[in-house]
Amino acid sequence: MNLVVIGAQWGDEGKGKVVDYLSERADVTVRFSGGANAGHTIVRGDRVYKLHLVPSGIITPEKTVILGSGMVIDPEALFAELRELTNQGVLWEGRVLVSDRAHVVLPAYRKLDVELDRQRADPIGTTGRGIGIAYSKKAMRDGYRIIDILEQQVFDTIDPADRGFLEQYREPLADMVIDVQRYMELKGSKAVLLEGAQGALLDPDLGTYPYVSSGCSAAAGASIGSGIGPRAIDRVVGVFKAYSTRVGNGPFPTEFHADRDGRLIAHIREIGNEYGVTTGRPRRCGYLDLVALRYICRSNSIDSLALTHLDVYDTLDEVKLCVAYDIGQASVETFPASRTALDDAQPVTRKFPGWKTSLSGVTRFETLPQQARDYIAFIEQYTGVPVDIISVGADREQTIVRRDPWIQS
Ligand code: GDP
Ligand code: IMO
Ligand code: MG
Repeated sequence: MNLVVIGAQWGDEGKGKVVDYLSERADVTVRFSGGANAGHTIVRGDRVYKLHLVPSGIITPEKTVILGSGMVIDPEALFAELRELTNQGVLWEGRVLVSDRAHVVLPAYRKLDVELDRQRADPIGTTGRGIGIAYSKKAMRDGYRIIDILEQQVFDTIDPADRGFLEQYREPLADMVIDVQRYMELKGSKAVLLEGAQGALLDPDLGTYPYVSSGCSAAAGASIGSGIGPRAIDRVVGVFKAYSTRVGNGPFPTEFHADRDGRLIAHIREIGNEYGVTTGRPRRCGYLDLVALRYICRSNSIDSLALTHLDVYDTLDEVKLCVAYDIGQASVETFPASRTALDDAQPVTRKFPGWKTSLSGVTRFETLPQQARDYIAFIEQYTGVPVDIISVGADREQTIVRRDPWIQS
């Protein structure tokens, strides 16, 4: 079975935690998009792992992970991350493989990324990791793939300064590089977990363009970004938070505003620890946006939802979510492409009573307070997709599984 996990909002939904949890049953985990712009956190007891390029299946002992063809890989960042894993006692040698078709991020791309964003009249607020530059070079057919730095003939055509930088990584990379499709065939991989990065609202086609990233973070990217045919994808899991967050600029219809929402911003940011894993920037916070979530469920064939951060709402008297936008005189329940419409959109919210009790120790759906179950039931009814996994804390153990996505009904 081939199972895809994507972010169903603007990133940081808790994909790392969900992928780590599901990787136990996988033969191999493949990251299919993005680069070191991602920051995926895994918490197991007192151990916290922060991954940027290495797929989140790596923490599960003995499992193989692959950096897929749709990724853009900064070799300096990759080997720094692997050193950090060694320091944390993770035995990764022989378990981390890299697609020969993935693209390379060079140091100059990082500088250019920062400069270009600074020059924009309305900056995107990129992570400065050279991601947009690498994907642009790829689209312009001026980029380098991992295979290119291993083949002497092609390597010799690379700019001497870049060659100087890349030389040190050629040997260590040579041991890790594979043709993903052939690898899967030879190994007869039966349970493949496909890990997305960013979120579908940051996808350049589906998301809030131009305030998006450049890799294909939608479920459709799982196929092309890993080398598995689209019909071989069996199931898509969308991860979303009980509220919404966004790092960087761009439309965010349900963002909290001090005048309307009082102390909610500070409250959610502190309790949810809403600071970026990659850049440390405070994340913008807002209500759960069901208009956007339903759009993402439908445009990504999401079969199964994983709701995270439900515990962050534990102390609130009431919990609100957005069911429509007021745009001018119109009430809208579909997610607009127009930037101005999204900027003008006022959330129409629906209130639910809070549960006012800690969920952090709950392990079964049946023991969640009725108020929390009502909130979940409403999300399912609105989106038409079952909430199969509920996360009530950062730790791996704080996970309620109602239906196992690996078991097809
Ligand atoms: P990702 O990019 O989607 O993998 O998510 P990040 O790791 O960037 O951000 C999610 C943050 O929330 C991390 O610090 C996680 O440890 C934490 N987290 C994940 N699930 C939960 C949850 O259910 N409750 C709380 N309170 N924190 C969570
Ligand atoms: P994970 O995988 C949240 C955002 C940046 C910026 C925009 C473009 O941890 O969910 P880029 O550097 O990619 O060109 O920046 O996308 N962004 C993310 N936001 N989580 C991420 O990844 C992100 N990756 C990029 O903040 O607004
Ligand atoms: Mg993240």
